[in-house]
Amino acid sequence: MTSAGFFTILDTVDSTNNYAMQQAQDGLANHGSAWFAIEQTSGKGQRGKKWATEKGKNIAMSLVLAPGKAKITTQFQLSAVAALACFEFLKHYGGDEMKIKWPNDLFWRDRKAGGILIENKFQGKAWKWAVVGIGININQQVFNKELSNAVSLKQITGKNFDTIALAKELHELVMKKLAEGRTSGEILQQYNERLYKINELVTLRKNGVKFDTHIKEVSAQGRLITIDAIEREFDFGEVEWLL
Ligand code: BTN
Repeated sequence: MTSAGFFTILDTVDSTNNYAMQQAQDGLANHGSAWFAIEQTSGKGQRGKKWATEKGKNIAMSLVLAPGKAKITTQFQLSAVAALACFEFLKHYGGDEMKIKWPNDLFWRDRKAGGILIENKFQGKAWKWAVVGIGININQQVFNKELSNAVSLKQITGKNFDTIALAKELHELVMKKLAEGRTSGEILQQYNERLYKINELVTLRKNGVKFDTHIKEVSAQGRLITIDAIEREFDFGEVEWLL
């Protein structure tokens, strides 16, 4: 056991998010329990996409959190804290060109080094559990063609890493960040300071229509605010980035 809570290694599992959520539902998880998989056979990405990674090469880990214990009140706040922890971790190992791409992707230059998928369990109005699933590319060097913008720490630094040691460290870091009890304003400010393409012109697509706009910031509600002739606001899933 680490000070952050249990850290369990699974040889192979469909998805650590599914596994962690089941453990929570079965009363077998506490705030901070984490499951790490050497192999995921059905890894899940955001918006129903698959998350496919090579066996033994990367971080695939899910943390069970009791949001009340971390004094987290909104889903965006949790997403931002998780992204900030992953950002700090990646910056430490991969250098200064890391950014957080809205809402919680980890980018190095214009390439994706990691992603986060948060799944929640509510009981009535009470937010009972959040499962924070983190996938970070560590030692993988060849990615599927459709993941043409993926990048790993190995590709960034030329070095190999111990994935389990790194996952334990990241687990501790996420729990530390949650325990810091920063105000929502402080979290949002830190998040926006690390935001990918802030104040830059980007091309987005909504309902099949492409348009150019400047990234202004992300709001306290987690909406992306952009500005061109007018100010616009988007929810996650409403717009697609064209990189
Ligand atoms: C994304 O960027 O689309 C989110 C990717 C999240 C992947 C991680 S790997 C560990 C955990 N288990 C899953 O099935 N998904 C998350």
